[in-house]
Amino acid sequence: MKGIVLAGGSGTRLHPATSVISKQILPVYNKPMIYYPLSVLMLGGIREIQIISTPQHIELFQSLLGNGRHLGIELDYAVQKEPAGIADALLVGAEHIGDDTCALILGDNIFHGPGLYTLLRDSIARLDGCVLFGYPVKDPERYGVAEVDATGRLTDLVEKPVKPRSNLAVTGLYLYDDDVVDIAKNIRPSPRGELEITDVNRVYLERGRAELVNLGRGFAWLDTGTHDSLLRAAQYVQVLEERQGVWIAGLEEIAFRMGFIDAEACHGLGERLSRTEYGSYLMEIAGREGAP
Ligand code: G1P
Repeated sequence: MKGIVLAGGSGTRLHPATSVISKQILPVYNKPMIYYPLSVLMLGGIREIQIISTPQHIELFQSLLGNGRHLGIELDYAVQKEPAGIADALLVGAEHIGDDTCALILGDNIFHGPGLYTLLRDSIARLDGCVLFGYPVKDPERYGVAEVDATGRLTDLVEKPVKPRSNLAVTGLYLYDDDVVDIAKNIRPSPRGELEITDVNRVYLERGRAELVNLGRGFAWLDTGTHDSLLRAAQYVQVLEERQGVWIAGLEEIAFRMGFIDAEACHGLGERLSRTEYGSYLMEIAGREGAP
């Protein structure tokens, strides 16, 4: 399975914070925002990942993450010239996807919760069409909304409905089979001139091949769309990391735990960050868990 992180958009809702930098580079507490979605793909065992951003910002991601080899993954980069919609990323990334399956994640979506690794692994294993992840929210009208029947089976998908018929938002993580590029090629732009991801998902729904996994209330899917929600996301990360002494979306730690890099490499990455608490943390877990 190939991965795509879409880190495009003009971020106008967060100006002036994002006047000259990409929203997905902004820190969420102690690391750039893109670490969070990237960590999700890595937890799903996905190692060939393309980052898509705007012509102005793509270099920022390249200098931040390079070719990914230090994390035991392969990163490459592609440009989306205009903010032409989320589904357009599937066309930009068509060559990267090839005839493989694909996980697409939005660069500003933060997921955190128990069992994410298992949930991803199981969802990828039984992928037959597409898998979407639903999350109950107070303000579903801001999102793609999923309707389900009494058994939890997906019955409808509507993009930003004025009167939502459920409180289940469709989050920005999508798993697709190898039909997705063809489907994206055949949808038409919405009235706002964009290729909507909901239209791609509706094709799978019409074919009876769309599954919705409800992340449920024990899970955190955090919003970063406004200054306030961004600050709250940072506070969420701070509270958990401080309380438990763990690191959320630590790409180096995940690379090590997933077996993408060995203890020695993990220790080396810690040394490079030795003036930070995270550096010491990496060296410690490499020493502890890498010990024979
Ligand atoms: C997009 C999608 C929407 C989805 C949301 C998740 O909305 O169109 O279906 O629920 O991402 O973050 P946007 O952020 O472009 O308004």
